[in-house]
Amino acid sequence: MKRGAVVAGNWKMNLGPEETRAFFRAFAPRLPAEGRPTVLVFPPALSLAAAMESRPEDDPPVLLGVQNIHWEREGAFTGEVSAAMARAAGATHVLVGHSERRHVFGETDDEVAKKVRAALSEGLTPVVCVGETLSERQGGRLKAVILAQLEAFLPFVMHGKETPFLLAYEPVWAIGTGETATPGDADEAHGLLRERMRRELGPERSAEVSILYGGSVKPGNARELLRMPQVDGVLVGGASLDPASFSAIVEAAIGDSG
Ligand code: PGA
Repeated sequence: MKRGAVVAGNWKMNLGPEETRAFFRAFAPRLPAEGRPTVLVFPPALSLAAAMESRPEDDPPVLLGVQNIHWEREGAFTGEVSAAMARAAGATHVLVGHSERRHVFGETDDEVAKKVRAALSEGLTPVVCVGETLSERQGGRLKAVILAQLEAFLPFVMHGKETPFLLAYEPVWAIGTGETATPGDADEAHGLLRERMRRELGPERSAEVSILYGGSVKPGNARELLRMPQVDGVLVGGASLDPASFSAIVEAAIGDSG
C-alpha cells in the first residue's frame, strides 16, 4: 500500500506576515474537507507566527515548517535560527538541503547531515532534499549524485522509529524553470532512493519514508506525477504561492493515498 500523500509548499523568500494571513484566508475555504493529503507549508521564518495564527486548524491541520535551520542550539551565529526556536514557534518540519541552500549558499553534505541530526534531536521532522544538476544528469551521474546525498545523512536516521524523516527528490534543472521531470524520470529516481534506503534501513523502516517530487509542479501536472507508484507527494515552489493553484494541487492528491 502506498504511504499517505503529502502536498508541501515551499514559499522561499516570498509572502511576509500580512500576505501569509491573506493567503490562508483565501486558501482555507478551498481546502477539500474529505480525504485530503497531509498539507505542509514552509513560509519564511518571519511569517511563521502569522501562519500559526491563520492556518486552517481543523482536522487534520495544515502543518508548518521552516526552510532552514542551523545545527547548533543557540549561540553567536548571526542571522541563523535553531531547530529548538523553530519548534517553539510552531514548526513541526524543516526543509534541509534544498538545492538553493546547496548551490546558492554553498551548503555541503556534511552540513546537511548536521542539520538533520539537530532537527531530529529537537523533534522536528526533516524533509531532506536531494537532486542532480543538468550537467550531472547529462554526464550519466544521476544515480551516483543522489545516492551520495542520501548516504551523507542516513547514519543520523538509522536508529529507531523516533527519527522520522521525509525525502524530496528535486532535480535542480527542474526548479523554477518550468521544466518538469517526466513522471517516469521522477519514478525512476524515487525507486533508486527507495532501494538504497531499503538496503540501509531495512524494509520496514524504509517503507515509512515518503518521497516527494519537486520541480515545477503545477495543477496541470500534479495528478500525473502523484499517480506514479514511487511518488508519495509533491514539494511545490512557485505554484504554492497562489491559494487557487496550491489548493488545486491538494485536490489532485485526493484519492491517491490509498
Ligand atoms: P518550483 O520550486 O516548484 O518553483 O520549481 C520547487 C522547489 O524549489 O521546492
